[in-house]
Amino acid sequence: MDDRPIGVFDSGLGGASVLREALRTLPHEKFIYYGDNQNAPYGDRTEAEITALTMRCAHLLADHGVKAILIACNTATATCIERIRSELEIPVVSVEPAIKPACMQPGTGKVLMMATRATTRLRRYLDLQARMPDPSRVINVPCPGLVERIEQGIFDEDAFDDILDHHLSAYHSMQIDGIVLGCTHYIFIRNAIRRYATMHFSGSCALFDGNEATAHQLARVLTEHGLLNSENAAGSVEFHTSSDPAQFQPVFDLLLRQPCV
Ligand code: DGL
Repeated sequence: MDDRPIGVFDSGLGGASVLREALRTLPHEKFIYYGDNQNAPYGDRTEAEITALTMRCAHLLADHGVKAILIACNTATATCIERIRSELEIPVVSVEPAIKPACMQPGTGKVLMMATRATTRLRRYLDLQARMPDPSRVINVPCPGLVERIEQGIFDEDAFDDILDHHLSAYHSMQIDGIVLGCTHYIFIRNAIRRYATMHFSGSCALFDGNEATAHQLARVLTEHGLLNSENAAGSVEFHTSSDPAQFQPVFDLLLRQPCV
């Protein structure tokens, strides 16, 4: 039994979608969330910049005395998860684009993998894609612009059509079997993406994300290391941001309360 908190971080609010799942799976744990909202989005930055920002988040949480780290950011994972693991002595679990379940879907259509520019270019992700039975089935779609709008607290179904048009119009009328939400922010606009996909693509367009699998992996790792909190303990979440808490805490609270769908 270990009642220390678990540290969770993301470039901003997107990681709340992973934390929401983790809370469902591990209701007796304490979580400390750090959103680097001041520096979001990470996805358009250089690898060196993302590494520096990510290492800062990880060390900040480790210095706070957390028992494990959950990287709730695909971009940070793709950039430097190995370095985080080598510099910290606590277990590190992370989210990754769910292209595997998307590629296991039967069908002859394509799989669209929507993520930040950085994730779609980085070696770690490209290696994951190369391990798919047919890597060419996956079309990587970097989607700059979405994270900025989500960070502003905008989630309306029709509020993203201009950006989605910009990134996805090349695939209109194609048969799309799956769409991977490869950035934790995109989970909060899944209705906007689903609506857009239904209007413009043929095929089932099933949506995939890695959050549930990540929460289960976190539970497994804590169990293996004997780090679970007592089952009588009440869970909790503490929010910290590198930006203005008065601006981001209310949106964070709202996102955390949304049901996982
Ligand atoms: N939410 C993040 C991810 O999963 C990063 C978004 C960004 O800061 O660009 O990739």
